[in-house]
Amino acid sequence: MQQVDRDQLAQAATLEELYGLIEGIGIAPGWAKPTPSLWPEPHKTFAPAHWRYEQARGALDAAGRLINTALAERRNLILFNPAAENSYGTVRTLVAAYQMIMPGEWARAHRHTPNALRLILDSEPGTYTEVDGVKIAMEPGDVLLTPNWSSHGHGNDSPARAYWLDFLDVPLVQLLEPMFFEPAENESGEAKDDAPPTTDSPFVFTLADTRKRLDAAPSDPTGPFGTHVELGNPALATIALSMMRLSARTPTAPLKTTANNIYAVVQGAGATTVDGERFAWQRGDVIAAPAWRPHFHEAADDALILRVSDEPVMRKLGFYRVEGQEPQAH
Ligand SMILES: [Fe+2]
Repeated sequence: MQQVDRDQLAQAATLEELYGLIEGIGIAPGWAKPTPSLWPEPHKTFAPAHWRYEQARGALDAAGRLINTALAERRNLILFNPAAENSYGTVRTLVAAYQMIMPGEWARAHRHTPNALRLILDSEPGTYTEVDGVKIAMEPGDVLLTPNWSSHGHGNDSPARAYWLDFLDVPLVQLLEPMFFEPAENESGEAKDDAPPTTDSPFVFTLADTRKRLDAAPSDPTGPFGTHVELGNPALATIALSMMRLSARTPTAPLKTTANNIYAVVQGAGATTVDGERFAWQRGDVIAAPAWRPHFHEAADDALILRVSDEPVMRKLGFYRVEGQEPQAH
């Protein structure tokens, strides 16, 4: 910083002279900003987007030949939003990735402050995630949580490759800065628990249980989320999850919200229209509906979609809004 004393500043003869003096001491005139700092409603910075499981699976199969879990730690493919100057987040606060582990592999245990969850796409019995020392089975359609600072590694004792989708709040943690990461202590390169994988854990929502809950849920095929149940309340401090059951050829009501939403297809085929762009999807595909982008879904047949949302962040901070509804009072 330059040394400029109070009298020098007070005696600036012109605005240009004042700007020149204060620039050197880290101060800018609020009335002459190059870009506004406030605007009437959310900028649509992130783009509507669609990723195809079939393509990701091809790329993961190549990666299975070309890189192992000892080198990669995680063999995953990041779904980065095509917005300008973005190379990581799927939406502003969340990132999604496809991941695969080969038969016999162990993706070593670690822990980190970002919250994470997985939606299993294809696996055979014997595939598991070890969370804080307990092996949890990974079966197709299951949703498995690894909250902030829980240790987790992935193992595959089955004869088949296992594929899943990861969702994490890493972009939010990067923005807020409380990032911590460490490998598990005494990591030996293999899982420590010899017990068979279980689904008796608060960290897993099995598809079988979720289907039973959906059968008992109030029917709401034309609501913004179709007939749906929430997984957890919320599932993670920063991420809410709901499983949505869509009825064939019945469009859901449009949703326009400050929350960022990512949708992953668990079953069926259909299309999601995000801010006028229509994306036809199949099982395993991912759709990004960033904040303030109106969107709705229409299934071709009975479909299940997992909604992954930063709504808990927006609610806790008082920033949650849905167009057509009154904002929260504070
Ligand atoms: Fe991790």
